[in-house]
Amino acid sequence: MSFIECDGLVKIFKTEEIEVMALQGLDMTVEKGELIAVIGKSGSGKSTLMNIVGGLEKPSAGRVLVDGVNLSELSEKEMDAYRKKRVGFVWQKAGRNLFGFLTSRDNIISAMQFTKLKKAEKEKRADMLLELVDMTKKADSLPANMSGGEQQRIGIAVALANDPDILLADEPTGAVDSMTSDMIFDMFRKLNKELGITIIIVTHDNSLAAKVDRVLSISDGKVSTESIIKEQVRKRLEELSGEEYSLAEGLFDNSHEEYSVLDKARRLQLSKEMLGAAGISGNRVKVSYKDGNIVISGEKSST
Ligand SMILES: Nc1ncnc2c1ncn2[C@@H]1O[C@H](COP(=O)(O)OP(=O)(O)OP(=O)(O)O)[C@@H](O)[C@H]1O
Ligand SMILES: [Mg+2]
Repeated sequence: MSFIECDGLVKIFKTEEIEVMALQGLDMTVEKGELIAVIGKSGSGKSTLMNIVGGLEKPSAGRVLVDGVNLSELSEKEMDAYRKKRVGFVWQKAGRNLFGFLTSRDNIISAMQFTKLKKAEKEKRADMLLELVDMTKKADSLPANMSGGEQQRIGIAVALANDPDILLADEPTGAVDSMTSDMIFDMFRKLNKELGITIIIVTHDNSLAAKVDRVLSISDGKVSTESIIKEQVRKRLEELSGEEYSLAEGLFDNSHEEYSVLDKARRLQLSKEMLGAAGISGNRVKVSYKDGNIVISGEKSST
């Protein structure tokens, strides 16, 4: 059994006029200690998935198992504990992660209010986290006196305050420049390696996604493709570190092998782009078996 298992997740949002099906039977598994990226067009369901895995929303159907526990079976109190202690959130707008009237250190300490740690222990842990995200020098600064990237690093420290097993980051680099994005992504890699924490990052930046071992692409509320890093690229990445790493940009061209994902009922989602390239426009295709391969062709070309 995987650490995180999403089975047939469906999420329907009802507004006055319409119903939106944000997730349409999404399956996903994440192993303990994995760092994965989730990409997909706007409205494809990425945030909805993160909110459900993080226990902020309940699915309309389907289930999420974390460490073998079905989140739907938790009492309200247990769910609250799950959200506060087992999951850390990093949001796109650093402001959402921080209180503007508190210093970096106090922001981190205030996130520990539900723990049993004594004051001195909290302070010690906050200083350790500040060092981990390389922000010791800004321990006494207010968010307003820090750059977006610095605020986001404090936001990561806040997310780690209660020593969670899972870090969920929803477009953590959406509001910063590309150099800062690189730095923040490298930070997630470092935390994943050093703390062994399981991390899921939503991003719309494919060049960032290319830096992680596995990338799930969501389309219309389902996982459509899964890209796995090529072994030689992964090895090379491990050899590089820090600054060298950001300079190795060219390395990421063709870094991953992309696979389409079959759902539980063996259905396959084909991209509009690929269908267009093959000149397939109708809703009927010919599926045939040829020389060990399955061939999909349009109605006309099959005659
Ligand atoms: N609270 C809500 N009420 C109604 N509809 C919603 C709600 N939250 C999300 N949706 C709809 O569900 C779909 C998926 O939304 P979601 O926010 O998960 O997409 P996303 O992939 O995160 O998009 P983006 O890249 O823009 O952040 C969209 O059609 C969205 O309009
Ligand atoms: Mg979103």
